[in-house]
Amino acid sequence: MTTIQAHGGTLVQLFDPNYNVSSLTKEIQLDSFALSDLELIGVGAFSPLTGFLNKEDYESVVRNMRLSDGTIWSIPITLPVEKGIANSLQRGEKVKLIHNGDVYGVITVEEVYEPNKKEEAENVYRTSDLAHPGVKKLFDRHDVYVAGPIVLTKRLKRDRFVEYYLDPKETRKKFAELGWNRVVGFQTRNPVHRAHEYIQKSALEIVDGLFLNPLVGETKSDDIPADVRMESYEVLLDKYYPKDRVFLAVFPAAMRYAGPREAVFHAIVRQNFGCTHFIVGRDHAGVGDYYGTYDAQLIFSEFEKGELAIEPLFFEHSFYCKACGNMASTKTCPHGKEDRVILSGTKVRQMLSDGITPPPEFSRKEVVEVLIRGMKKQVHA
Ligand code: ADX
Repeated sequence: MTTIQAHGGTLVQLFDPNYNVSSLTKEIQLDSFALSDLELIGVGAFSPLTGFLNKEDYESVVRNMRLSDGTIWSIPITLPVEKGIANSLQRGEKVKLIHNGDVYGVITVEEVYEPNKKEEAENVYRTSDLAHPGVKKLFDRHDVYVAGPIVLTKRLKRDRFVEYYLDPKETRKKFAELGWNRVVGFQTRNPVHRAHEYIQKSALEIVDGLFLNPLVGETKSDDIPADVRMESYEVLLDKYYPKDRVFLAVFPAAMRYAGPREAVFHAIVRQNFGCTHFIVGRDHAGVGDYYGTYDAQLIFSEFEKGELAIEPLFFEHSFYCKACGNMASTKTCPHGKEDRVILSGTKVRQMLSDGITPPPEFSRKEVVEVLIRGMKKQVHA
């Protein structure tokens, strides 16, 4: 069986638990965003990246959606560091990467530079509005970036859902064991509602397996917490999906809410996990009204055929239609708004926290039960 190659050709492997950090004195403190980036670089999820971007690659990614060698890359992976510390670093120096007092990796300093955050925001997020959560995060982080190759020396210890943390080399092995040649990846930061299920299963009709890969890194505070979502995925898969056709593992990355640019990034990363196809539905990775409904699909037409090995599968806005009597999309349903069960994310969150059950045409009852329970626990926590 041949598995799809990693983006750029080689699956990067930079985890070395035996790396000796005892002689290193300087430290850089990582926020949780940078910590997850470090880990994902180290395990090859961000192949071909081997470290945090230098200025040339950073500017090339911001302006052209490519690394300086021409490889497609849409989101700048950078290490913002406090100015005083960044400016004290020497080129070639090895520096410990610390989070909560523990060393998670080492960077060999290649360059220290000041980014143009306004340009980064306008190109990557298509807005410099601080009301955009990704833009706000960008401006909240330090104003100097440190670049250079990394080694990941320690893995984050997880206490829940441990079995769902798999590295790209493990998911690749798993797909091979399952005998899947064609695997469709699904990104989500939400519970799987009926519309998600519909597009997943539509995609599954034409491939061998579905890789359900919810993002569980940092998200904005009003998104449903990852542990509640995980439980909801488990009950849904148990009841409504064939066991030998779906594989659930988490994507421990931070959410950027960069819409189209993030859709490309999400696709590339899923290729690294071994997917051959990737679902892009309506307003993928979007927030508020910053992006057009299908902008995250249109962006893929900016690439030449064959430049991306993973194939995006595009889906129109899906919903339950009472007149059709089934799930449908704007592509397949001739009826009007009045027949369609459509609820906004905000509305659903409101209903759940008020203990109101969204209709079964919108969400499976088993899923809703888990969510309502989870939201209650949160309020009482
Ligand atoms: S995202 O930020 O992770 O993209 P979400 O979890 O809502 O958000 O979406 C996961 C995937 O499902 C994305 O590809 C998104 O475009 C798609 N999607 C979500 N809701 C719908 C819908 N009603 N119709 C079609 N696609 C959808």
